[in-house]
Amino acid sequence: MKKVVLALAAVAGLAATGAKAQGYPTRPITMIVPFAAGGPTDVVARIVTDNMSRTLGQQIVIENVAGAGGTTGITRAAQSQPDGYTIMMGHMGTHGAAPALYPNLKYDPTKDFAPIGLAAGTPIVIVAKKDFPANDLKGFLDYLSKNADKVNMAHAGVGSVSHSTGIFFNSVVKAKPTMVAYRGTGPALNDLMANTVDFMTDQIVNVAPQIQGGNIKAFAIATPERSPVLPNVPTTKEAGLQGYEVSAWNAVFAPKGTPADVVKKLSDALMKSLDDENTKKRLLELGGVIPSNAERTPEALQKLVESEVARWTPVLKAAGATAE
Ligand code: MLT
Repeated sequence: MKKVVLALAAVAGLAATGAKAQGYPTRPITMIVPFAAGGPTDVVARIVTDNMSRTLGQQIVIENVAGAGGTTGITRAAQSQPDGYTIMMGHMGTHGAAPALYPNLKYDPTKDFAPIGLAAGTPIVIVAKKDFPANDLKGFLDYLSKNADKVNMAHAGVGSVSHSTGIFFNSVVKAKPTMVAYRGTGPALNDLMANTVDFMTDQIVNVAPQIQGGNIKAFAIATPERSPVLPNVPTTKEAGLQGYEVSAWNAVFAPKGTPADVVKKLSDALMKSLDDENTKKRLLELGGVIPSNAERTPEALQKLVESEVARWTPVLKAAGATAE
């Protein structure tokens, strides 16, 4: 009898979810951003959801749930009702690096989500406070090699993009600065501009305006080509550093079990947003990279997540990184 009741409840739930999918969305949607407001993931989320809200006919409301390098917010989103009314902005850290650093991570990036699509590529820039006693990457690395115990590095929590790309950087240049955790690189950037923290490896969309404004220093960008918005910032290779090329990405996910036609509506709205001239202009002027059509599909994002988990686990293990 109990089994019959449970089966009926499950069918009723599915039917309800199915029913809702047809008129989806009928009320505002919450997007969980797992870092502090004003940082790169928040900026990308607010830019792409602006047009998505218009397409879907309902507001996408950003809710910042920071902590534990982004895994707190992503865990909450992954465990939310899979009805399309809670989605999230994950990234290379939460859905790539985190498994290597959190043995008890409460989600599996490759299994517990319905990928919606890539939102933006975000190259990594090595930036420092304005008063840092070096004017180029060579001088910076020289100072770091002699004074690592006096230098601190900001990051957005273990497993975040700034932490994992920072750990990777430190392993390449063989330095061990003091790591200083923030709830996002938005607040970390404020301290960098206040000269109270020394340097970080951060996503271009967060730091480009302050570099252009001369409020912080940029020693190099970790991509094969210079960024069109930072023409005076050399690549790591040009600046004499081999073996440090890394770009991050931000992407939209829904919880596993979200109905397929809801996933399709969200994915179509994201793709339309990335074709929107205003959305593109706002991402490009911050140095963001617009995904190609092939890179934008849910299937492509699933593959990216699987390859990133496979890529970052050995890199972070080799660097001796552990969850603090
Ligand atoms: C943020 O939005 O603060 C960043 O994405 C944090 C990070 O992962 O470095």
